[in-house]
Amino acid sequence: MSRTLFVTTALPYANGSFHIGHIMEYIQADIWVRAMRMAGHTVHFVGADDTHGAPVMLKAEAEGITPKQLVERIGAERPQYLRGFQIEFDHWHSTDSAENVELSQDIYRKLRAAGLISTREIEQFYDPVKGMFLADRYIKGECPKCHAKDQYGDSCEACGAVYAPTDLIEPYSTLTNARPILKTSEHYFFQLSDPRCIEFLQKWTTGSNVQGNKHLQAEVLAKTREWLGSGDEKANLGDWDISRDAPYFGIEIPDAPGKYFYVWLDAPVGYLASLKSYCAKIGVDFEALLDPNGTTEQVHFIGKDIIYFHALFWPATLQFSGRKTPDQLNVHGFITVSGEKMSKSRGTGISPLRYLELGMNAEWMRYYIAAKLNARVEDIDFNPDDFIARVNSDLVGKYINIASRAANFISKYFDGQLAYPDDAALLGSNWAQAADRIRADLEAREYGRAIREIMAHADQINQAFDTAQPWLIAKTLASAEPSQRVALQHICSSALAGFKALSVMLAPILPALSQRVATELFGQTSSFVWTDAGVLPRQINPFKHLMQRVEPTMLDELFEIPTQIASTKQASSTQQGAAAKQSGSTKQGAATKQTGSDKQGAAATQATAAHDQQPASAQTTAGNLAEANALAPGGEPLAPTITIDDFVKIDLRVARIVNCEQVEGSTKLLRLTLDVGEGRLRNVFSGIKSAYTPEQLIGRLTVVVANLAPRKMKFGVSEGMVLAASHFDDKIDSGIYVLDPSSGAQPGMRIH
Ligand code: MSP
Ligand code: ZN
Repeated sequence: MSRTLFVTTALPYANGSFHIGHIMEYIQADIWVRAMRMAGHTVHFVGADDTHGAPVMLKAEAEGITPKQLVERIGAERPQYLRGFQIEFDHWHSTDSAENVELSQDIYRKLRAAGLISTREIEQFYDPVKGMFLADRYIKGECPKCHAKDQYGDSCEACGAVYAPTDLIEPYSTLTNARPILKTSEHYFFQLSDPRCIEFLQKWTTGSNVQGNKHLQAEVLAKTREWLGSGDEKANLGDWDISRDAPYFGIEIPDAPGKYFYVWLDAPVGYLASLKSYCAKIGVDFEALLDPNGTTEQVHFIGKDIIYFHALFWPATLQFSGRKTPDQLNVHGFITVSGEKMSKSRGTGISPLRYLELGMNAEWMRYYIAAKLNARVEDIDFNPDDFIARVNSDLVGKYINIASRAANFISKYFDGQLAYPDDAALLGSNWAQAADRIRADLEAREYGRAIREIMAHADQINQAFDTAQPWLIAKTLASAEPSQRVALQHICSSALAGFKALSVMLAPILPALSQRVATELFGQTSSFVWTDAGVLPRQINPFKHLMQRVEPTMLDELFEIPTQIASTKQASSTQQGAAAKQSGSTKQGAATKQTGSDKQGAAATQATAAHDQQPASAQTTAGNLAEANALAPGGEPLAPTITIDDFVKIDLRVARIVNCEQVEGSTKLLRLTLDVGEGRLRNVFSGIKSAYTPEQLIGRLTVVVANLAPRKMKFGVSEGMVLAASHFDDKIDSGIYVLDPSSGAQPGMRIH
């Protein structure tokens, strides 16, 4: 029975570029969508940018552009990532769209008509200088419990205490440093605590879709129980504050001047807005497609951090506005890189764009991520050695190898014609069954299990081939018995039938490769569908090289900073926060985490943040580079104004370079041994290899950011950052200049 599916991934915030976490989510969803399409189902797969809220507003303001301009710039970056990783959304839209305004306001009116909207005065911190209410993340102060300074408004990074911003001692606004004042304002609430909502959510969270699949994974259900209670336990679900006061980049609340929907109200509505816009494009009736009594299945792929919104708010919002509720919430864990966690704002050690720019094959990544994924909410780790091993030994060494071994014999001796032993029908039905198991695994999001099974088949095919030793037969073919000749053809044909079946099974994971296998090798006119697995191929075209192995040096490059200038080059990207926010140490964070234009001041040799960096060329579109150059001494506009308090957080010290060495395996870095007058030496990596030899540096004085949190890098721990000057655009090769103090300065002296 053919199904109709409406599939989404979480809508990424429009204040930054995609990081590898986003790409992982899209790969997971894209594989699923492709597998469903191969089974003949109709899928509408849509995404959109999540544009509203304070971060976009403030970032745009700091850059001197409008939120819409920022959203447009980020939106324009999306296709190169998506195309690059072969992620095929049918449509990509924006929450800042006419459809979303209309749908969000309509939903709100229905909730209000259902008697589920109320208003209440609440008291909140307000920045009197900026003239706006402050979300918790824009308030800092001293932790009321352990008295650590500069802690965020919701929790302390030093002792882990959780509190309200009003509990902070000496609170200040991170936007202006002003002391926030308490101010009341009327807020709008969605009354989730209403018994109707609780009852509905208890039912929905434990329910199943038309396919008999649970709406929620077991772990996710367990999580919702903490909020909803179960059995006799009482629900612990408060009403949901859905309004924000102007100034706010968002959608106006009808009949409530100066009030906007909190971004999380209109963000998921963006799923519907994107589908609606797509429906208009392809001439499908949107409301009919999402008829609450219809058969379309609504499936959301999201990460574990946004369960609350998707398993509670969203279904309730839909239900009580008379709309179709979701059928399946597919929650994944987070991807870490070499065991290191990433934060939303800083990304991970792998820049997806850099990956592509290095010419690394997107299908390696798709394969690797798939091999690691299962249907549970588990984190996965990107490990460079594991990546190389799985791609080279399994994907290329086992799977691709089958075709490259068998195809040449067939082309050379049998003019591309395949032939099978008498029990060929059995061979076909075995492959059909195997493919059906893989199809089921993929539908159940057990991708790792599917790949294990596929590789086990590849092993068997290779073993059978090895055992039959066709190369020996081929050697003596001229003098061989006819039966030997037939045997050679059978062995190779069976191997190729297996290769075809495995290619069908891998098609959702390796779309471009399987397409080539289907058309170039097997001469099909269309891409693979599941039933192709059991159809034995009758002929092949000459084998063409299919896939390169990973070069380990590529991984080195991937983890390395392109040049140290890149760190100052994060201008147009929030990734820069990367460098800054790295350790979560608020001390150091403050130094570089200017939300301003997200720029670091001096050209710093921020080798420590090496693997957070994106290449400059990728980050900076031609337009904004030109713009930057126009305003800009050294190729970039000045960073936003800071106070002296901001400056003193950066502890700059004179350092002597007592030793300097090449870093084996790195084309960019030098390893510096620094004396900062502390009675111990520090190890610092710096991306200045292109400009200096070790001999030129040894013995010199320089300036180092001495209180930067230590950073674990591929080559070791870096304990600081050496300062250097350079042009913003590394294509303008005007050199890199390490700073040095005038003679007489001593290691350890502070720069004020
Ligand atoms: N804008 C919200 C979602 C609104 S949905 C109506 C948001 N955006 S996000 O850009 O921060 O995250 C988008 C998705 O990426 C989320 O599903 C999130 O869980 C996922 N990931 C963010 N970091 C991730 C990893 N490190 N690993 C895997 N997925 C991660 O949240
Ligand atoms: Zn504390």
